[in-house]
This record gives sequence, C-alpha cells and structure tokens, in this order.
Amino acid sequence: MRTKVIAGNWKMNKDLNESVTLVSEIKNGLTKLNSSSEIIICPPYTSLETVNSLIKDTAINLGAQNMHFEDSGAFTGEISADMLKSVGCNYVILGHSERRKIFLETNEVINKKVKKALDKNLKVIFCIGETLSERESNVTFKVLEEQIVNGLSNIDNDKVQNLTVAYEPVWAIGTGKTASPEQAQEVHEFIRKLIAQLYSDNLAQDMKILYGGSVKPNNAASLLSKPDIDGALIGGACLKPDLFLEVIKIAG
Ligand code: 13P
Repeated sequence: MRTKVIAGNWKMNKDLNESVTLVSEIKNGLTKLNSSSEIIICPPYTSLETVNSLIKDTAINLGAQNMHFEDSGAFTGEISADMLKSVGCNYVILGHSERRKIFLETNEVINKKVKKALDKNLKVIFCIGETLSERESNVTFKVLEEQIVNGLSNIDNDKVQNLTVAYEPVWAIGTGKTASPEQAQEVHEFIRKLIAQLYSDNLAQDMKILYGGSVKPNNAASLLSKPDIDGALIGGACLKPDLFLEVIKIAG
C-alpha cells in the first residue's frame, strides 16, 4: 500500500506575514485531523526559512518550487539545492508546466535539475503533463513518455526511489476543469507501466503518482479513490486552509 501524499504548491503567492498565517492555520487544523497522509507544503523561497521554523515540531514536509542545477556561481537570481536544504527543504518541485511554458525549461534542463536534486538527497516532485492541443491531437501519451524518458535520463534505480511523479494536465491547471477520474487513472496507469519498463515492477509499484489540476474538496474523493492516483498536488485550493485541510481529510 502506498501512503497518500497531499502537496500544496503555493506558487507566487503569500508574502512573509501571509505565509505565517497560512502555515499556522494548516498546522492547527492538522492537529485535529490525525491524518495518515504525507503532507508537503511548497511556499515561495522568501518564506521557506520562517515556515520551516513553524513546522519543526510537526510531520509537515517543506518543499521548494524550483532550483538551479549548478552547485553555486554566477547565476544571478538562482537558488541551489544546498541553499534549499539549508533552510529546511527536503522536497523540491521540478518540471512544473509553468516553468516549462513561461520560463522555457526543456526536458534536458529539467533532467539536469532532477539529477542534481536527487544527488543532493532532496526528494523530487517531478511534474509532467500535456497541453490541451496535445490532448486534442491525440499525442498525450507520446508527450508524457518524452517528458519521462528525457526528464529521467541517466537517473539510476536507487536515486529514482526518491522521486514522486505529478501528472498535471496543463489544461486542468487553474482552469476549474479537472481530468475525470477515469481520464486521470488511464494516464497514471500508463505512467506506472512506463516506470516499470524503465526501472522495475517493484519500483513502479512503490512510486507515488500524484494528480494535479483544479483539485478541490468536491472532486478529491473520486480522484483519490482510483488505484493509481496516490495523492494530489494542489495549487489554488492550498492557499485556503479550510479547502487544503478538507482534501487532506478526504485523503484519510
Ligand atoms: P490548481 O490546483 O490551481 O489547478 O494548480 C495545480 C498546480 O499547478 C499545482 O502544481
């Protein structure tokens, strides 16, 4: 049995004071839930250290939303894996569709980041997903396969065990449209089979595959009940503590 994972990607939201309020509300709410799920929150860089100090005595994991693949140097504006670890992160989101689309990150760049993060013992939430036009042209599986094969190129079995896949159809992000539980399950099953081919059956069975894209309390139960959907990566709804906590409650 894979433990459910509920992760919140705060994106470019919440200044320091707002982050303190949000994390305090999540923390208080969680004490009443007795959840067995793994909880991860990914605030903006500027709040990581403070949020870390507030969740120290809890089971909440801290993640960043991006990082650079180099260790250090003349990369103005960038953040390294060691820097993330120094402020308490044990997770990092890589390959998010907003990074791919707005910041032109290719599968090759994402591969370098994934490699570096895993080498540095950060756990990776590796995002993949097709656009609406790709789905409509029936190339969804081809696109996902390319993202996985290239994104995970030259990453060994022992490293990839620290990676969680997040399937986020781009057309479902922030749009209020969700993939139906059946559509999502079909893709998750495909991803698990591909991981089995690239690595091993055992590794694929243990790998957590999250769904992301307009996850809310009203659609979480049907998505999370599918056999290959191991959790959710939540954007909009994770900024509202009552909604985020409700999804955690549904995950059990
Ligand atoms: P929404 O939940 O706002 O659709 O965002 C999903 C997402 O991109 C999480 O990484």
